[in-house]
Amino acid sequence: MIQLNELTKRFADIVAVDRVSLEVKASEVFGLLGPNGAGKTTTIRVLTTLCKPTSGTAFVGGHNVLSEPIAVKNLIGIAPQAINLESDLTVRENLEFHGRLHRMTRADRDKRIKELIEFIGLVEKQNSPVEHLSGGMKRRLLIARALMHRPKVLFLDEPTVGLDPQVRRKTWEMIRELKTKGITIFLTTHYIEEAENLCDRVGIMRKGRIIALGSPMALKKNIGETIIECREDNGYGYKFFKTRDEAIRYAEGIDCDVIIRESNLEDVFIKLTGERISD
Ligand SMILES: Nc1ncnc2c1ncn2[C@@H]1O[C@H](COP(=O)(O)OP(=O)(O)OP(=O)(O)O)[C@@H](O)[C@H]1O
Ligand SMILES: [Mg+2]
Repeated sequence: MIQLNELTKRFADIVAVDRVSLEVKASEVFGLLGPNGAGKTTTIRVLTTLCKPTSGTAFVGGHNVLSEPIAVKNLIGIAPQAINLESDLTVRENLEFHGRLHRMTRADRDKRIKELIEFIGLVEKQNSPVEHLSGGMKRRLLIARALMHRPKVLFLDEPTVGLDPQVRRKTWEMIRELKTKGITIFLTTHYIEEAENLCDRVGIMRKGRIIALGSPMALKKNIGETIIECREDNGYGYKFFKTRDEAIRYAEGIDCDVIIRESNLEDVFIKLTGERISD
């Protein structure tokens, strides 16, 4: 459904996306995980035809984003990182406006708006201006707007940024439900938990490059399923083990305060880069 071949995007001397190649299958949830400035949003902007690649190619639903932008736009929905709702219009009016842009009939718009405001749990707020909504409500409305014209591929750029854990989990449930309906989802996040809980496959991105790609399970297996954190003078040292037994045997032989735990995607990033995803 999505294919990138050596995709590169430069801004003057910054290489925001650097020779990225990957494929996303139909009804897969794929996530780009990486720190600020990794190039996640730029990748989405190229895939959604909002900016042109410098070199390499990108296809969505078999259409080239550069030469067939309209065909691509008809297939996709976008919930951007920066909330760009019309804040003086109501919830309904925002959806209505988007439906008109996509030339949906009035009857179809009404039907779809009803479905979507139920889906995002904003029936009571449907006639409130967007400026009266909470941050979490606005994020959900962004997703509803992206879904209005029934896209096959949904791009979600940081869908839960700034939301409290409970609202974040609700949003994850929504995204999982969309997957069961056969929608392909390409999202970005810098939350480890979000990538682990939601994505079938994850690309870990840093400085424009994909430095690791695979299912969360496979990525963690690769570095070792168990981690020992050992208190050192200048913070914590990390050691990676294939099995918990191996880790326990190692811990018995050393003289330092240790934490033994399962590995996560942050550890994958640490192992590959020596840095943390978030500070
Ligand atoms: N329009 C632009 N002009 C110049 N530089 C840009 C532009 N857009 C992005 N960049 C640069 O490209 C790099 C990647 O930015 P991008 O927004 O894609 O990162 P990101 O992974 O989405 O980060 P974040 O997690 O903070 O959203 C950064 O160095 C950024 O400053
Ligand atoms: Mg971004």
